[in-house]
Amino acid sequence: YPFWAQETAPETPRDATGKLACANCHLAEKPTEVEIPQSVLPDTVFEAVVKIPYDLEAQEVYGDGSKGGLQVGAVVMLPEGFKIAPPDRIPEEMQEETENMYYQPYSEDQENIILVGPLPGEEYQEIVFPVLSPDPRTEQDIYFGKYQLHVGGNRGRGQVYPTGDLSNNNAFNASATGEITKISFEEYVGYDVTIKTPDGETVVDTVPPGPELLVAEGDQVVSGQPLSTDPNVGGFGQRDVEVVLQDPARIKWLMLFIGAIMLSQVLLVLKKKQVEKVQAAEMNF
Ligand code: HEM
Repeated sequence: YPFWAQETAPETPRDATGKLACANCHLAEKPTEVEIPQSVLPDTVFEAVVKIPYDLEAQEVYGDGSKGGLQVGAVVMLPEGFKIAPPDRIPEEMQEETENMYYQPYSEDQENIILVGPLPGEEYQEIVFPVLSPDPRTEQDIYFGKYQLHVGGNRGRGQVYPTGDLSNNNAFNASATGEITKISFEEYVGYDVTIKTPDGETVVDTVPPGPELLVAEGDQVVSGQPLSTDPNVGGFGQRDVEVVLQDPARIKWLMLFIGAIMLSQVLLVLKKKQVEKVQAAEMNF
């Protein structure tokens, strides 16, 4: 869950290698997409859309072994100074997509890092973030220029709990080589698979409810061989994208410059026509 990122990585969800904390526990990789404008003006509200696509027919295993639909969640790391727009700044056309959303800041002093979810995946394969850009003309330490955004999107349950324990949303492997002498089943606990190694020791591997057993009593297994299927259908993906905080004065000067070039080109053509007329007149003499 997104709040487990806050719990396990309270400083920042992005480590020194650029990996987002969700990936520590959501081990499977699935695509996440981001749509943002290429450039934005200061003190303006724009949309950042995070897309978390998956097959809506897919079902995942829950903690008790039953099956059902997936949930989604996301983390967005905006550049310094950018934040979720206050409700009175959100334009009408954006209101419908954002009104029931809860955008949770990562920590008290990090308004630019936002968590969302878990949300039902059927309704939220696209999550819209209404973002307000800062204004370098009125805010200190904010400059016009190009900035990075880091976005992570997840669908489905993770493989590791904050305690380090594996969830049942995993494939379970044999921890020793030998013969399976016994498989017993207990409700809520799962299968206990007893492996007898060639030197006479016995090991018991537990497969919790959810994954399906691939082995039977009497089978020979080698250490690391899967005892069960992998029920995971979800995954996490991250994207690093860029946005330009554009100075409106620069656009004005650029327009003026282009206008001046066009005008001077037209004047040159007119001058050429005039010279041609004079030349034609002189020839007739
Ligand atoms: C479940 C998102 C970080 C471990 C979930 C679910 C979502 C989610 C949406 C619900 C899935 C479902 O019910 O179908 C995220 C995001 C993260 C993040 C966006 C980062 C911002 C983490 C971290 C850990 C973790 C850091 C481990 C320390 C899990 C586990 C589950 C889960 C084990 C399944 C819980 C259960 O149902 O038993 N996560 N997560 N997640 N997450 Fe995360």
